[in-house]
Amino acid sequence: MFVNTPPLGWNTWNTFGANINEELILQAADAMIETGLKDAGYNYVVIDDIWALKERDQNGRLVPDPQKFPHGMKYIADYLHQRGLKFGMYSCAGYLTCAGYPASFEHEWDDAKSFAEWEVDFLKYDYCFHPVSVRADILYKRMGLALANCGRDILFSACSWGSDHTRRWIKETGASMWRSTGDIMDSWTSIRDIAQSQLKVMEYNGHGCFNDMDMLVVGMNGQGNVGLTGCTYEEYRLHFSLWAFMNSPLMIGCDVRQMDDQTRSILTNREILAINQDPDGRSPFFANSHVFTPAENRGPDDAFYKDYPLDTPILAKYLSNGDIAIGLFNLSDTEASMWQTTITFDMLGLPATSGKTLELHDLWNGEVIRAVNGVIQIGSCPAHDCRVFRAKVVDAD
Ligand code: GAL
Repeated sequence: MFVNTPPLGWNTWNTFGANINEELILQAADAMIETGLKDAGYNYVVIDDIWALKERDQNGRLVPDPQKFPHGMKYIADYLHQRGLKFGMYSCAGYLTCAGYPASFEHEWDDAKSFAEWEVDFLKYDYCFHPVSVRADILYKRMGLALANCGRDILFSACSWGSDHTRRWIKETGASMWRSTGDIMDSWTSIRDIAQSQLKVMEYNGHGCFNDMDMLVVGMNGQGNVGLTGCTYEEYRLHFSLWAFMNSPLMIGCDVRQMDDQTRSILTNREILAINQDPDGRSPFFANSHVFTPAENRGPDDAFYKDYPLDTPILAKYLSNGDIAIGLFNLSDTEASMWQTTITFDMLGLPATSGKTLELHDLWNGEVIRAVNGVIQIGSCPAHDCRVFRAKVVDAD
C-alpha cells in the first residue's frame, strides 16, 4: 500500500505493554474521538505485542487471547470502522514475537489471511527471533507480498529497528514505514539519542515509505511500560516537533484516556501536524549557516554528517505552497548561542536578487519574526527546547 503522508495514530505498547484488552482498545478509540485527536488526523488504533495465545490453533492460525479479547478481533475492527478509525495489529518476522508469542515466519500467508478476515488496516512487523538463514530483506518481502495478495489494503509497518541495513532494501518490500531506530523510552536522553542518530538517515525518507523514529512518549510523564524519568513540557514539545519535521509517523504512546491539557495541546498542534502531513512530503535538510558543506563533500552517511551540528540542528523543509518550515532544535544542555540561532538565506535557497524576504510565524507562541539583511535571527532558545516556524516568502520592501 502506497501512502503519501506519514501515518498518524495510537499504539498500546509504550504505556500498556502486556496489559491490553478489548475494553482498553474501545475506550482509547472513544477518547481519540472525544479529545479531538481523530479530528486532528490520528486515525490508526494499533494493538501491539501480547494479544495472542501462546499456541496456534489446529489449523495453524493465530488465536486472539479470549481472556483479553472475548469477542475476537473483527469485533474491534467493526467498532473502530464504525467510528471512522482504522485498525492496526502486530506480528513479527521471526519464530516468536519479541515478547515470546507466536510470530509469522513460515506462516506469512495464513497470517495475512487472518488479518484480512479480521479487517485489519495496518500491520506492524517486528524482527525478534528471526531465522538467521534467511536474509532480512527476504523476511520482509515474504510478508509484504502476502499482504499485497490478501485481498485487503493493509499498511505494512516494518520494525527491524534499522538493523541489517534496513534502509537499503526496505522500499523493495512494500513497507510504507520502517523503524529506523531501536526502542524509545520516556526520557530526555532517549529522545536526544534517537534524534541525533536519525539526523544521519534523513535522506532515506520520503513518499511511500517513511522513516519511523518510534512512537511518541509525549504525555507519558514517566508512567507505563516504557516510562522512565519522564520529560518536561518543553522536552515533549521538542520531541513532537522534531518527529513531525522529520516526516516520522506520529503514533501516540500515552494513555489517551487521561491526557492533561498540555499533552493534548502538543499532540493537536495543527500547524506542526501540517508540516508532518504536507502533501509534497519533502525531506528536511540542514540549514545551519555556520557549517560549510560543499556538495563534493557529500559522502556516505557518517562522513557527510561528521561536521554537522547535531547538538543544535536547524532543519528546513520545503512545503507544497511555497512556504518553508524552519525548526531549531536545541539538543544541548546549554542555551543556544547567537551563532547557533542565525540562519542566512543562502542555506534556504533564497537569492538576494529575488527581491524577497521571509516572515517567520512561530508555531508554538505565535510570534512573528521578519528577516533583515538576508539573515534570520531567531533569538533565544533554551536547552532542551525548540523554535519552530512556518516561513512565508514576502516582498522585501
Ligand atoms: C520491539 C519493538 C517495540 C514493541 C516490542 C513488543 O521490538 O521495537 O516497538 O513492538 O518489540 O514486544
